[in-house]
Amino acid sequence: MRTVNSLVPRWRTAATRLAVVIVIIQALGLRAGWSQEPVQPRINEEFLEQEKIYRSRGADGRRVYTTDRGLSRYGELLPSGFCDALGRLGSSERWLDIGAGQGEAILDYYLPEDAAAERCRGSGPRARAVAISIEDRRTDDWKQQAARLGDDRIRYLSGKRLGQYSPEELGKFQLITDVYGGFTYTEDLSRFVDKVLKLLEDGGSFYTLATGVHLEDGKDKLGTLYLTELEDAFGREVKVCSWLKKISCVQVTCESKSERERPTQLIKIQKVCSDTSVPRTKLVEFEAGYPPARCFQLEP
Ligand SMILES: C[S@@+](CC[C@H](N)C(=O)[O-])C[C@H]1O[C@@H](n2cnc3c(N)ncnc32)[C@H](O)[C@@H]1O
Repeated sequence: MRTVNSLVPRWRTAATRLAVVIVIIQALGLRAGWSQEPVQPRINEEFLEQEKIYRSRGADGRRVYTTDRGLSRYGELLPSGFCDALGRLGSSERWLDIGAGQGEAILDYYLPEDAAAERCRGSGPRARAVAISIEDRRTDDWKQQAARLGDDRIRYLSGKRLGQYSPEELGKFQLITDVYGGFTYTEDLSRFVDKVLKLLEDGGSFYTLATGVHLEDGKDKLGTLYLTELEDAFGREVKVCSWLKKISCVQVTCESKSERERPTQLIKIQKVCSDTSVPRTKLVEFEAGYPPARCFQLEP
């Protein structure tokens, strides 16, 4: 039986050495097993596997598709300024959580008395909050809380990916978060980031993390299995933060966490003016999983 991410993806173990291997293989007149398969059909199969994961409930015996991280966990996982930024929001301002799962972080944010949540959100007024998830994971708790608060203070949108919403459907936000959501799962990274930036008000910030990536400070552990890789047109490694720092009209701050299970980059992107433009990426490899393994090539 296939277990998600149980194997090291064929391409991920040596993505940076791939070009060299191909040259050697071609020189020897051999063809690598997986390269005989055309890439697109294989990727399409992986997309189907990924859809099954979104619909899954529970674990596969090895890993869990976690959908219930609360606000204090968000505070631990996201860049250091996140809790302060959340606490500063006024009651008419808006927070979007992309890939919200059960929406536990938003539920905690609205809990009347919760010491752990208070450490992150402060004790001031609460902003309006919107949760987005591909699959509907609303719990009874969510439904009761939404009914109690009324006035659309908290909204849960599902059935589509972020990129499929029109600007009118979502409106604009002062704060956007993504904890192992669309940023980690999307098949079109540049389009995803572009959409996030379009949804941010000028001066607003996006807080997220990227796990299993080449770290900005270069302190990745030896033997790391990468989950998200970027390369230029010549197959040379590009760090996720170097790519993000090429976006116009934003200020990008990256914190490297090499001590986590996988090298993790904490990312804050602040939009400083409206004319944002994200350098395009093209998906070249994808292996379903939670999270999936992906390789993107930067378009020249
Ligand atoms: C592993 S769960 C994380 C849930 C939550 N953030 C947490 O930490 O518990 C991944 C979530 O991301 C959502 N997701 C993945 N890709 C998405 C996309 N492109 N647009 C919107 N949601 C997405 C999934 O539907 C799911 O709700």
